[in-house]
Amino acid sequence: MLHESIAQALNQQIALEGQSSHTYLTMAVWAETSGFDGVAEFLYAHSEEERQHMLKLMRFVNERGGVAEVPTVEAGPTSYEGLKEVFESILAHETKVTESINHVVDACLQAKDYTTHNFMQWYVSEQIEEEGLARKILDKLALAGNDQGALYLFDRDILSFDQEGHSGN
Ligand code: FEO
Repeated sequence: MLHESIAQALNQQIALEGQSSHTYLTMAVWAETSGFDGVAEFLYAHSEEERQHMLKLMRFVNERGGVAEVPTVEAGPTSYEGLKEVFESILAHETKVTESINHVVDACLQAKDYTTHNFMQWYVSEQIEEEGLARKILDKLALAGNDQGALYLFDRDILSFDQEGHSGN
């Protein structure tokens, strides 16, 4: 049976992963309607990954005797000045997700819930990859600057950046 504090922390994490999925989805729509087809593919795929992160947590909560809460997700920003703003937002968001996961891990230690602590290690590793990928993409965007040719290549190649450094869900 899940300790109440752990169930609460996990449900907060479920809500955040649901918000992540939604945020990536709105970014994907922006990218697709702004001519960045590669970035759109990347973001649609990432939105799906975040949904899987949410579901994995929900199934765990239910299996452990808790009740997963289906989150209500608010609409995020639907327009961006450019790719730099999109990926800066992603890095900021993923940093927030990491803090939240650390909070869950901390709650597990306090409640001596080593099963959930063990389960959460997958998320800890995933966040290292996600933050790393966002930083890597921002580095590449900084190199591209406002060069349209470089941005074209960035958009064409972004899916390979994901394969280089990210194991998916
Ligand atoms: Fe599932 Fe990007 O955090």
